[in-house]
This record gives sequence, C-alpha cells and structure tokens, in this order.
Amino acid sequence: MTHPTSSDHIDNVLHETRVIQPPADFAAQAQVTREEYDRRYRQSLDDPDTFWAEVAGELTWMTPWEQVLDWQEPHARWFVGGQTNIAYNALDRQVERGLGGKRAFVWEGEDGEVRTFTYAELLREVKQAANAMLALGVQTGDRVTLYLPLVPEAAIAMLACARIGAVHSVVFGGFSVSALSDRMNDAASKLLITADAGLRRGGLVNLKANADEAAGKTPTLEHMLVVNRAGSNPPMQPGRDVWWHEALAAASDEHEAMPLDSEHPLFVLYTSGSTGKPKGVLHTTGGYMVGTYLTTDTVFDLKDDDVFWCTADVGWVTGHSYSVYGPLLNGATVMLYEGAPNHPDWGRFWAIVQKHRVTILYTAPTAIRALMRQGDAIPAQYDLSSLRLLGSVGEPINPEAWMWYARVIGGDRCPVIDTWWQTETGSIMLTTLPGAHPAKPGSAGLPMYGIEPAIMTRAGEELGPNDGGLLVIKRPWPSMLRTVYGDDERYRKTYWGEIPHVYFAGDGARRDADGYITVMGRVDDVLNVSGHRLGTMEIESALVAHPSVAEAAVVGRPDDIKGECVVAFVLPQGEQTVDPAALRAYVTREIGALARPDAIYIADALPKTRSGKIMRRFLRQIAAGRAIEGDTSTLEDPGVLDRLAETPAV
Ligand code: WT7
Repeated sequence: MTHPTSSDHIDNVLHETRVIQPPADFAAQAQVTREEYDRRYRQSLDDPDTFWAEVAGELTWMTPWEQVLDWQEPHARWFVGGQTNIAYNALDRQVERGLGGKRAFVWEGEDGEVRTFTYAELLREVKQAANAMLALGVQTGDRVTLYLPLVPEAAIAMLACARIGAVHSVVFGGFSVSALSDRMNDAASKLLITADAGLRRGGLVNLKANADEAAGKTPTLEHMLVVNRAGSNPPMQPGRDVWWHEALAAASDEHEAMPLDSEHPLFVLYTSGSTGKPKGVLHTTGGYMVGTYLTTDTVFDLKDDDVFWCTADVGWVTGHSYSVYGPLLNGATVMLYEGAPNHPDWGRFWAIVQKHRVTILYTAPTAIRALMRQGDAIPAQYDLSSLRLLGSVGEPINPEAWMWYARVIGGDRCPVIDTWWQTETGSIMLTTLPGAHPAKPGSAGLPMYGIEPAIMTRAGEELGPNDGGLLVIKRPWPSMLRTVYGDDERYRKTYWGEIPHVYFAGDGARRDADGYITVMGRVDDVLNVSGHRLGTMEIESALVAHPSVAEAAVVGRPDDIKGECVVAFVLPQGEQTVDPAALRAYVTREIGALARPDAIYIADALPKTRSGKIMRRFLRQIAAGRAIEGDTSTLEDPGVLDRLAETPAV
C-alpha cells in the first residue's frame, strides 16, 4: 500500500488505488467483453424475465415453467410450474451431450491416492446411491444429513439426494457431536451418511464415533450409511448402520431422475447468525441450478478443457456451488482434494496444481495468506503454468495477499477475481469478470447479471459514491435462499425486515465512482474466522455452559492469517478458577475447533451499560491491544475498562 502524505491521507488509506488491467492474452480469449457485460447486465435488470428465461432455457426441464418469477415479498418463486432435476442436468444431460467419457471428478486423498470419475461413471454411482437410499426408506422431501470428509462419496451422496428429491444437509466434518445433533434435530433427518474416519494431517478424525454419539440424541434418525474411508473398523449397529459400499453393490444402476417442482427444496445448509442458534438456509431446485450454472460459466470464463479446483470443503456453500453443482452443470472437470494445505508440507497445493494441470484455482484469503507466509521459494519449485485464472472468496482479501497471489501463483499471467457472496445468496453476487474488468485489489467489484446492489443507511436511504453503509440487494435473484428452515419469521426479520423492501446482507460496504463495491465485513455479531462464519452468541453459549464460567462475551480480533480470531472474556462462577486449556477443549467439543478462543481474558466484570448491555466495542479495542476510544459515559462502572486493559490474556 502507498502512504500518501497529502491532505487526502485518510481517504487514500481507505481507498486502495491500484487498478490492474486484465492480462491481454486472457482478455483476447475471454467469453465476456466489457461491452457484452454492460449489455447483458442492462438486459438482466430491464427485462429480467427474458434474461433468466434464456439462461434457464439452456438447461433441461421436464415441464416448462409458466412464469419466470412470482415475487410476494419476501417470498420468491422462480420458474413457477416448471419441473426439473438438478442431478439430471449435472450428469445425465452431460452424458446425453456426449460427455460421458469426460472426467467429472479427479479426487486426490491426503495420502496421495487418486480416484477419477468420468461423467458416465459418476452417473452410475449416483444412480446406485439413489437406489440404496430408496431401499433404506428415504422418500422425496425427507432430510438426509451428510457428515463426511471430502471424499467423492460426499458429492455422490448430494447428487443422489437431489436425484430423488431428498433434501441434503451437509454438516462440516470438523463440527462437534452437539453441532451435528443440533443440526440433525432441527432438520428432523431420517438418514445420516458418514464415514468411519477422515484423514487429516496424517491422523484420523473419527467421524463414526461422533456420529454414533449424535445419533443417540436424534430421535428421528433411522439409518446410517457408512463410507469406509480409512479402514478403521468402527462398531456397526445392526439394523441401523449399513456400509455404503455394500448398499451400493446391492443397488441397481438403473434409476430415472425424478421430475421435481422448481421450488422443491434442494438443500439446507446451516450457518451462523447473530443469535446462538445457527440458521438452516434453505435453497430450492430451479433457481439455485440456474444461478450456479450461470455464474460458474461466466465468472470463471469456463472452457471445455479446464480443470477447475475450488479448495473449499463440501461442508460449506462454496463446496456446494463450485465443487459440485456449478461445474458439473457446465460439464467441467472438477479437482477435489481431501486434506490439509500443509500436508505433508506447504507445497501440497502446488503439487496438486502441477500434477493434475489445474487451470482455475478458487480459494480463500486465509489460505493465500498462510501460503504467502511460507515464502516464494516453495511455489517456485513447482510448474504452475497450467493455471490461467485465480479466484478468492470468503472474506475481504487484503491488497498485499492479492498482489502475491497474482504475481507468485499467477505469474502475472492470470487474472485474480475476488468474489463476494454468502451461504444465503447461493451463488456469486459481486466480482469482476476476468477478461472484461480491471481489478482493484481489495474490492470485490461489480454485480453479476440480475443482481442490483445498493449501499444504504439503516433507515433505507441510498448512499452515494464512497460513502460507507450497509450492503443490500434491491430485488430477488434465482439462487437466493427461500427461507430459514422451520423459522420463516426469522427469515423475514433477518433478511427482509431490517431495511424495508431490500435484502440485507449483514455486511458493511462502500461503492466507488466506477461502481466497484468494497465489502468491509460484518456489521452484526458474526465473526469471520478463516472465511468461516461463527456467531459470537454461539460461542458465548458454549462458554457459559461450562461449570466454571458465570458470564462470557466474545469478540473478534484482527488476525494476520485467519482474518479474524476469537477472543473470549469470561467471568468465573463463584469461587471457581477458570482453566483456559479446559475451556478451549470444551468449546472445541461443543462447536468445533474453528470456534476455539485464541485468547481468553479472565475478568471480574464486563463493561456494561446501566441497562445491562455489554459494550463489545470496548472489548474489541482491548482484545486488539488498542487504546480505549469513544464515549464511556454510559458505562455502569467505567473502572472496568482499566482493570481489563491490565488483565493479561491467557
Ligand atoms: C460472509 C458470508 C460465500 C462463500 C463463503 C462464505 C464474507 C464472503 C467475501 C468477499 C468480502 C466476503 C461476508 C459475507 N465474504 N466473500 N469476497 N469479500 N467479504 O460464505 O459463510 O455464508 O459467509 O463472508 O462477510 O457476508 P458465508
């Protein structure tokens, strides 16, 4: 970053001013030019029905829709009356267009094992998995929870659910027993698909043991399908547990994808909000299909021979939309990698790129920063010449990491795109198109087709260029969430009730004179740790559930690698002593390792207003080691801050 000394200093610190033009070679072959983007974007807003009908019309529908959009704020129905099947479009359609022999998945295990599936092979396994689920009594509309490592079976299970109209709920394999059972109970899942264990940094993660414990707390659960990933021989409960490979071997490989209403629920994915209870974000079939199909093709400038690698786990929405549905709907070859980026060493990502000739890499700023910290010598040992496009997602990317990514990994030859979106939006909302738009490091960029963003005040006044405010979307789009599973009131309030008549994203942002939107981060009580969402209330609930803790407040602290890390302030219960190691282990067990506090302050009081509200603003300043700023006069006991500032973190 440059540090100008002129009077517009403040303005310039806030505004990274570099503009990076698309590399000429890339631009020359790109699908979309600037003019094309302008034309289609205009059309998508002026005549959305025609625009979306054209996109949806490129896919196969068993029954055509009668109406493109039925909008009864805050409820949207897209492609009304249409029937389709997303798994059919992802697989059968590709085989029918002659792509049966093309590689759909290239999977590499952490131990180096490689498994490849052509579209025809993948289709066959998905059909068998669909039949195996039907044989276990799963019916259209039932919920199926997946708790798996990143193995091909995770994607196969998702597609098999979609094929029969069962609603999948993928729970990240790093989540705890309680997180898993809470999510299964909320969705009333009938079937759990898990594995004996996952491989992580050379060790085993015993998923089946967690699954057994969670199953004991989930009355609706009837069966467990268990993938044998690690040969670890877990106990199997007769009558309840079935081996995946045995169930598939016994199943027919003939199955016709079920025609489903466009608004048939496709999946639920839990994400953190500003209350203690995660939200089950519900996506439906037709709109999500159209959104992921369009964005994968357009944003990533997809070509027939691309090898597309999105490094996210399928436990997150990025894995749903850009490791499974979006690329398969486009007939692309997808790279999947099971393990950690630093196993056996920090060259692993680059070894995968080199070995499998990856052309498009889509990863998170936290990974880029961690890789950057290892120095340029490691990537220099690998042939990264296959790469042609780099993407970033999950949190704001700092300009330094952006430049490193472009120079060291992209060899100054690959455009870098920063994509802003959310679990709720289903697909990419803001980005630059790699051959059409210059990039401004640190700024996500421009709206995708059909997306009409604005920056507003809480009162709903639209702000002008460079004014910081709240990011909203002014009209519905096909891949938007339809509701919060089982809690439509929360859906209304959280997304369409904060600011009248617009979708409220929960992020602060500003837009420059060129229309580029820079997302600054969450404005609610949601943390973003390594690109993953965590609610401060969720962590606080876990902390106060520990017998040694009377009260807790959690805030985020800026972190060089993770973006943000978890800092907890706890008040001991009575005369008890708080053991920080035990507390960290407890949070890990209650939620997962992601939520483990990096720092814990054991305090005798928290800064509260006279009405009892904790003033987190001050806690954030203390956590960051900054001087206290702002009005402390509303505090019940201003002395608390001085005492806290002298308390060492443990
Ligand atoms: C939140 C959504 C959607 C993919 C993964 C995260 C933050 C995401 C960016 C970006 C700045 C970003 C926002 C958003 N975020 N991408 N490119 N620039 N911030 O999905 O877990 O639903 O989190 O991640 O704060 O609201 P998610």
